[in-house]
Amino acid sequence: MLNVGILISGAGSNMLRLLEDMEQPHPGRASLVVSNTPDAAGLAKAEAMGIATQVVDHKLYRGDRSAFEAALQKILLVHEIDVICLAGFMRILGADFVSAWQGRMLNIHPSLLPKYQGLKTYQRALDAGDAETGCSVHEVVSELDAGPILGQSRVAVLPDDTASSLAARVLVQEHQLYPRVLRDFLVQFPSQA
Ligand code: GAR
Repeated sequence: MLNVGILISGAGSNMLRLLEDMEQPHPGRASLVVSNTPDAAGLAKAEAMGIATQVVDHKLYRGDRSAFEAALQKILLVHEIDVICLAGFMRILGADFVSAWQGRMLNIHPSLLPKYQGLKTYQRALDAGDAETGCSVHEVVSELDAGPILGQSRVAVLPDDTASSLAARVLVQEHQLYPRVLRDFLVQFPSQA
């Protein structure tokens, strides 16, 4: 059984779907949720499901990313985490942290990567006149929102869409995609062989 740690910064709706899926027979165990901000709404949702939570508040590290990441790493090691899922985690992770977790860290991103890495993905899809957008789950590498793509879902852009209407429809697809990709990933994970 692989220990899964989920990193969040906000609402945690993707985290919730992953936790719910891991309540079913699953190759992973939801071991820990970590937020970089103490007021992330997702923390209470995880606690309500009986999952251990921790806060590593990036603001306390005053821009010292390596100290922030060292604190994060310590907690992940204490909980013997095997695989990390970034789920709306809005901090950029440094090369050392990423390389320590290479091949063991997934992220969900609200675009059809490699299109629209970074922020404001919905508005950028609208501005470009794209007929479709969507979401991607990928392995995390040191380049932002790059790394092998493990799964994508497509969402049609409608004529009267706004960034927020599009975000809401993409999020529905994220909730389907991430649990499915995590399951597949863990089944094929090296230590399971
Ligand atoms: C999701 O739409 C996720 O794809 C996005 O943040 C949202 C988090 O929602 N992530 C990124 O933009 C990462 N670059 P949630 O907290 O309800 O899961």
